[in-house]
Amino acid sequence: MEKIDESAKISNEKNNFAIQTFGITKKFGNLTAVDGVDLSIKKGELFALLGPNGAGKTTTIKMLCCLLRPTAGSATVMGHDVQKETLAVKKVIGMSPQETAIAGRLNAWENLALMGGIYGLGKEETRERSDELLKLMGLTKRAKDQVRKFSGGMQRRLSIAMALISDPQVLFLDEPTLGLDPQARKSMWEQIEDLKGKKTILLTTHYLEEADALADRIGIIDGGKIIALGTSQELKDSVYDMQVMEVKAKNLTSDVVEGLKKMYSEVRSIENGVEIMNKELSFDNVVDYLRSEGVSIYSASLKQPTLDDVFLKLTGKELRE
Ligand SMILES: Nc1ncnc2c1ncn2[C@@H]1O[C@H](COP(=O)(O)OP(=O)(O)O)[C@@H](O)[C@H]1O
Ligand SMILES: [Mg+2]
Repeated sequence: MEKIDESAKISNEKNNFAIQTFGITKKFGNLTAVDGVDLSIKKGELFALLGPNGAGKTTTIKMLCCLLRPTAGSATVMGHDVQKETLAVKKVIGMSPQETAIAGRLNAWENLALMGGIYGLGKEETRERSDELLKLMGLTKRAKDQVRKFSGGMQRRLSIAMALISDPQVLFLDEPTLGLDPQARKSMWEQIEDLKGKKTILLTTHYLEEADALADRIGIIDGGKIIALGTSQELKDSVYDMQVMEVKAKNLTSDVVEGLKKMYSEVRSIENGVEIMNKELSFDNVVDYLRSEGVSIYSASLKQPTLDDVFLKLTGKELRE
């Protein structure tokens, strides 16, 4: 009896999840780029894989898109095994790679037609889908322009349109806003918001604000391992018992910062100041210490923990470029 229940449970899970990984691992020689990652991403979910450069984000995506073979572990996309059913996987996915792959001398239309061809869509279908996608990505007016003349943001939007040409169930966006200026990034967020709920999306980013703004759930990846997983709020709650104090000051020497590090668990330098995180934090003690060291304080405040603080607490590192 138990055995039957168990298998029913597994097949039911398969139906609810768009992506599942089971200890997926990738080694390049001695380097373990992805180290036993277990993820379950629900259908329709927008999941952000958040981590610094070299964390293993692109490698994870490439394994899920059947572009790299895992060294160990396994994964499924819409129930299809990425190693044993690569054709079935490729049919249900679309991917916008980190290094945008578009043909610069072709116009937006032609780039989309090329992708349609690769996916074996008919001429008419390609035309219809391209129209829709150019509209969705705000590129209709520029459809006939050579894409090498596009801004970075427009090129990236075209790359996403290309990833969507086959109307995939699962969309992979590898650092969709990398290198974009803040305005283009905001506009990209709106495009991604529009797709939310319609597709399962796995997005990678090293921008905390991006994961915070867009994702239903966030997995923080560092050194190839998932070190935290949850909604933005859940992750923040995990440092809820911590207090964060930000001090802006003049002549804050490295000796003074070292002194703070001896007293508090997490101390990091910020522009013209320092941020301190600790379970118990006395505002007065910090101020007194800094004054006694001859630091002149511009401002000092206690604030709510941010995702940045979560990352710092988990890794002892900052997630900055
Ligand atoms: N083809 C490769 N050969 C050797 N090392 C690689 C290769 N691809 C990635 N790496 C290494 O694997 C680690 C993870 O890389 P990557 O997945 O690109 O990280 P991220 O996308 O998070 O920046 C890095 O240390 C990177 O240098
Ligand atoms: Mg990458």
